[in-house]
Amino acid sequence: MAINYDKNSGLITIETAHTSYQMLADKKGYLLHLYYGKKISGSAEYLLTFLDHGFSGNPDIAGMERVYSLDAQPQEYPFYGSGDYRSVCFRAKGNTGADGVDLRFVSAEIKDGKYELENLPSSYTDNASGEGVQTLKVTLQDINIGLKVDLLYGVFPENDVITRSVLVTNESNNKVKLEKVQSLNLDCMPGDRDVMYFHGRHEFERQPDRMRVGHAKIAAYSGRGGSSHQFNPFAILMTPDADEKHGEAVGVHFVYSGNFLIDAEKDQNEMVRLTAGLPEEGFEWILHSGETFTAPEAVMTYSESGLGLLSRRIHRFFRKHICRGAWRDKERPILINNWEATYFTFDGDKIVDIAAQAKELGVEMMVLDDGWFGKREDDLSGLGDWVVNEKKLKGTMKDVADRVNALDMKFGLWFEPEAVSEDSDLYRAHPDWAFKIPNKPMIRGRHELILDFSRNEVVDHIFEMMREVLDNANIIYVKWDFNRSIADFYSAELPSDRQGEVAHRYVLGVYDLLERLRNRYPELLIEGCSGGGGRFDAGMLCYTPQIWCSDNTDAIERIHIQYGTSFGYPSVTVGAHVSAVPNHQTGRVTPFNTRGTVAMSGSFGYELNLGLLSDEEKHEVTEQIALFKKYRHVIHTGDMYRLTNPQEADALLAAWMFVAEDKSEALLNLVTLNVHGNLGSRYVNLEGLDEDASYRDETSGMIYTGSQLMNAGYPVRDFTGEYQARQVHFVRV
Ligand code: DGJ
Repeated sequence: MAINYDKNSGLITIETAHTSYQMLADKKGYLLHLYYGKKISGSAEYLLTFLDHGFSGNPDIAGMERVYSLDAQPQEYPFYGSGDYRSVCFRAKGNTGADGVDLRFVSAEIKDGKYELENLPSSYTDNASGEGVQTLKVTLQDINIGLKVDLLYGVFPENDVITRSVLVTNESNNKVKLEKVQSLNLDCMPGDRDVMYFHGRHEFERQPDRMRVGHAKIAAYSGRGGSSHQFNPFAILMTPDADEKHGEAVGVHFVYSGNFLIDAEKDQNEMVRLTAGLPEEGFEWILHSGETFTAPEAVMTYSESGLGLLSRRIHRFFRKHICRGAWRDKERPILINNWEATYFTFDGDKIVDIAAQAKELGVEMMVLDDGWFGKREDDLSGLGDWVVNEKKLKGTMKDVADRVNALDMKFGLWFEPEAVSEDSDLYRAHPDWAFKIPNKPMIRGRHELILDFSRNEVVDHIFEMMREVLDNANIIYVKWDFNRSIADFYSAELPSDRQGEVAHRYVLGVYDLLERLRNRYPELLIEGCSGGGGRFDAGMLCYTPQIWCSDNTDAIERIHIQYGTSFGYPSVTVGAHVSAVPNHQTGRVTPFNTRGTVAMSGSFGYELNLGLLSDEEKHEVTEQIALFKKYRHVIHTGDMYRLTNPQEADALLAAWMFVAEDKSEALLNLVTLNVHGNLGSRYVNLEGLDEDASYRDETSGMIYTGSQLMNAGYPVRDFTGEYQARQVHFVRV
């Protein structure tokens, strides 16, 4: 039993393979959090301390008992109006306009299987036996305003994962205004914690930044409409001793692709609180009588042995319980994308020519990027007109796809479904379909506006246009792009008191379109993209099992970006391509082999003009493709180990490896970052191997024991020169 509710004591316990999670519906009717961490037996209620903390108010039910204050107790789902002045998850106003509720425990219910969320993506189990997955529903109620709040918990015992969501139902006859509905709160008993956020910018996403949680709120936040390049909706809360191999850590993902807030603080009593979910800023929701609001899911993954294990548990969970569909377990095609080769300058012949050259070298799919539709010779016009520009292609899309297919290659196509150019037929016909605030000068991004996907008719129209293209050519892959931050959230269709709903309704519209595409084209592989990795999140991964990781294709920068990404997301979800040098984003020149080694640690492809490659480089492409095909299963289904931290100042080497689940083989990847004169051998301690087994280094033929490689280290010899790469394949003998 993963979940247990003891009605008499009010104790609710969730257990996974290595964790216990406890909350207590106390005698006063409040839901207190007791514990989350390494497995314990018995109740953790004894941890609670009741003292009189001046200026921490006491709820009425405590009578004159000044030691009982929600401001000083660990909470399961803190709410505004309880006298808890830390960050709260929930805030609502009834018809008096007064701000504050009083949420009391009503019941707890346990069911087999995993809950689903209406209109929102969430984790799932497709295993007939259910893998012991269970759902807990804890119901709270506010009788004053008339609200029911259901806290949902999905428990995946084998993965050490607990998921959370919240349903808020208006049980009154009046309308209620929701001002904040977050999905997760995690209170820790007094002590130190570090938090790691993943910040960045366009072309430099998901850089880990670790800090001690002090007596101030520190937040990762997006108000950009998408989850953003600037902060990822993923954070790690950990004990200060945590490193790759030691310490306790909890990973928190918000399964959502729009605005979010994750914040951490240490309170007056040295307790650390982390909350995650929709931000208060820019959010309001009117709930009419009988209506229910669903908060997106948050996922907590636990590790008792550091960040490496945490990531590996996350990777396994994401591969099976977040990603889904026909492509979840299929080998992803090695692709060539024409973007960095041609930008907007191509015709049908050119695309077929690129495909033919790529086919010769072993590439499996041709992806036609931006510029095939409407009037689109640059980024000033055409978005929204998803009509094939047959003049430019010198034929139909079917002609191009058929010619590519005739080469025995698959064919894929780029869309940016949410965007519209002012210079487009769509905008001329429906100017009110774009987000703009009346009488306010608009904010453009990459010259484009964003369509109001909170409106069904807009989603209907875009779906129809995409359907027309996808139905009429053999397209097995779509790259779904999104190239700006949204600034002007305003829907011409909603009344003034509901404009605070637009940002969330927009994301629901995006999911609606993705869902419709999934239903109509179950075999379609969609790769997410937002100017690279601006919407690399668990919500998108529920629909797009791979995401273009960054517009930065420089191999050395990619080591940093993919290193950061690996904390929260598995390699198979990371779109990574070999591009030309000097690199278009940084101007850096790196060896072809290095670009291949780095791109192979993801869903692999090429994005350059093959016609400009030397014969030697073309030969390298064929070799890389052969190697990737050989290693693809270990990289995409194996366990990943980060062996060095490339962020360290003057790091000599970036080293990371993949180990097959059964430990029968491993792939070590090495790239020199810095060089110095008279440098001796370097040694890398491998991980994840079978200690007692022997492994052959396929390059040198040397045989080592697993314990030698892991405990004494692997010698990296004769490896000089900046930005050089080496892959070492170990096979158990
Ligand atoms: C941004 C993407 O990240 C690029 O790969 C490319 O598709 C361009 N958009 C096209 O406009």
